[in-house]
Amino acid sequence: MTSAQVSVENLVLVVGATGGVGQLVVGKLLEKGFKVRILTRNAAKAQKMFDDKVEIAIGDLHDPATFPAAMVGVSYIICCSGTTAFPSTRWEFEQTPNLIEWIKLFLNPELAQTKAKNSPAKVDTQAVTNLVQAAPRNLKRFVFVSSCGVLRKDKFPYSILNAFGVLDAKQKGEEAIINSGLPYTIIRPGRLIDGPYTSYDLNTLLKATTEGKLGVVLGTGDKLTGQTSRIDVAAACVESIQNSDSERKVFEIINQGARPSMINWEKLFSELS
Ligand SMILES: NC(=O)c1ccc[n+]([C@@H]2O[C@H](COP(=O)([O-])OP(=O)(O)OC[C@H]3O[C@@H](n4cnc5c(N)ncnc54)[C@H](OP(=O)(O)O)[C@@H]3O)[C@@H](O)[C@H]2O)c1
Repeated sequence: MTSAQVSVENLVLVVGATGGVGQLVVGKLLEKGFKVRILTRNAAKAQKMFDDKVEIAIGDLHDPATFPAAMVGVSYIICCSGTTAFPSTRWEFEQTPNLIEWIKLFLNPELAQTKAKNSPAKVDTQAVTNLVQAAPRNLKRFVFVSSCGVLRKDKFPYSILNAFGVLDAKQKGEEAIINSGLPYTIIRPGRLIDGPYTSYDLNTLLKATTEGKLGVVLGTGDKLTGQTSRIDVAAACVESIQNSDSERKVFEIINQGARPSMINWEKLFSELS
């Protein structure tokens, strides 16, 4: 069995919809005729982005009391929320640090984690655990955007990427989902490339792009390293909920080689071990 019979009437909740991958996920779902609800803490931003094309549920990932209304009638959850790997204003410190304080935070990852309201531990582990607990028990799929490197935190470049615990946090988020008993798909992209450029990193500075010329490679066991188009991550999220071969699978996704005229997601998912 490959393509699952998915009625486009099924309601999909997108978490992190205002982010780079999230915006593309919403676009792809709407293109395919799905009903979309988003969980966002910023209704004005979401309204501007999506007009009235999606249902907006107001919620903060750190406040599970805001989740129940967002979960009503949901068949699928696609979670592409995240924060930066290194301390930044997106970690939401109580007071914006001055230069000396930033230096102290960069020298002391534990202090940085403790002082931040929106650290990886809080967004990628705690919030994901909260979401899993609030999800309807008859959910058809929980799709989570994780990261390449979660099983290689001792190897370069992941040892650097994990200096402030982002890969530890993603791995614990993955475990919470797997242990929940809910049907899941966990997608581990490489370094994100292609817009919307929402990261604070070199790819954003360079506006790095695949120009739509690279193929999609999936792998298991966390062995792939490379860059991944946000467009293909979003497509993988949406295609996976329509395909039973991707259920209870954890896979890496990178761009490599020449791009065929059409990405054959069914074949890619069927080859996952
Ligand atoms: N950057 C990379 O190279 C890379 C590599 C591998 C994996 N990833 C992962 O890929 C995913 C997508 O990345 P991206 O660059 O598209 O993400 P992004 O643009 O940074 O988007 C993050 C999303 O999470 C939301 N969010 C953060 N904290 C929240 C909170 N407390 N309550 C509610 N929403 C919150 C943001 O909402 P607001 O708009 O309200 O801030 C935004 O919608 C992330 O999970 C990231 O960790 C990234």
